[in-house]
Amino acid sequence: MKKQTIPIISLNKVNKIFPLAVGGSQQVLFDINFTINSGEFVAIMGPSGSGKSTCMNIIGALDGATSGTYELYGKDISTMTPDDLATIRNEYIGFVFQNFNLLPKRTVLDNIMMPLMYRGIVMRDRITRAREMLKLVGLENFEVYYPTQLSGGMKQRVAIARALAGNPKLILADEPTGSLDSKMGNEILKFFEKLNRDFGITIVMITHEFQISQYARRIIHIYDGRITYDGPVPKSETILLKSEKRAKK
Ligand SMILES: Nc1ncnc2c1ncn2[C@@H]1O[C@H](COP(=O)(O)OP(=O)(O)OP(=O)(O)O)[C@@H](O)[C@H]1O
Ligand SMILES: [Mg+2]
Repeated sequence: MKKQTIPIISLNKVNKIFPLAVGGSQQVLFDINFTINSGEFVAIMGPSGSGKSTCMNIIGALDGATSGTYELYGKDISTMTPDDLATIRNEYIGFVFQNFNLLPKRTVLDNIMMPLMYRGIVMRDRITRAREMLKLVGLENFEVYYPTQLSGGMKQRVAIARALAGNPKLILADEPTGSLDSKMGNEILKFFEKLNRDFGITIVMITHEFQISQYARRIIHIYDGRITYDGPVPKSETILLKSEKRAKK
């Protein structure tokens, strides 16, 4: 039986304007519209400064839109209290960042257990779950290591284990391979592919590298705060670059 797909992320005419310290303001996103359904694997691409992270922060309910609506699991984010937002982030979303964001003074196991503590899960179950996740990312022999004792790729695998510990339906990753060499980067992406295919986890990932986007099944290309391409992953980058050119006109 085919799994039912439901809209998870839905942006409707989302604009984002930042006030500038020197006065005035800068508009960074312009009328962004898209829907991402459960089970999708989407890469958000575009040049530096085009608004990718700004868009991701809105998707992750870390920042609000200036206007327009954003619905996460059918709920309008702007109507939620900060407590509700924290709960929805903790329960539904696993975040993965370029710089791993691990706590340096905590062991690998502690790092993975951390989000579970906020859910009120008892210690024994936290340890069991964290160990399962470490095994899943192939680092079961490293639980008492500190992040500084690991390679970049291993750190990112710990960060992914932490993101997965809470059993998220959605993974948001901002340049997850940005600090890794291409071999490590490809390994991480193969793992994402598996999570998406075998566990049905929806993945939205920002990347600069066209080669990395090949693991996704859809690309949303942003240029100067506007979507210039939204469709299947093309074989060559030319289509995306052409979409930028058209937007420049
Ligand atoms: N908190 C903020 N206050 C003011 N301006 C901001 C803020 N965050 C981002 N910007 C501006 O918004 C624009 C888009 O930034 P954003 O970080 O979304 O780009 P990006 O596409 O993620 O770039 P990169 O690929 O370099 O990470 C930039 O011009 C940036 O200076
Ligand atoms: Mg960014």
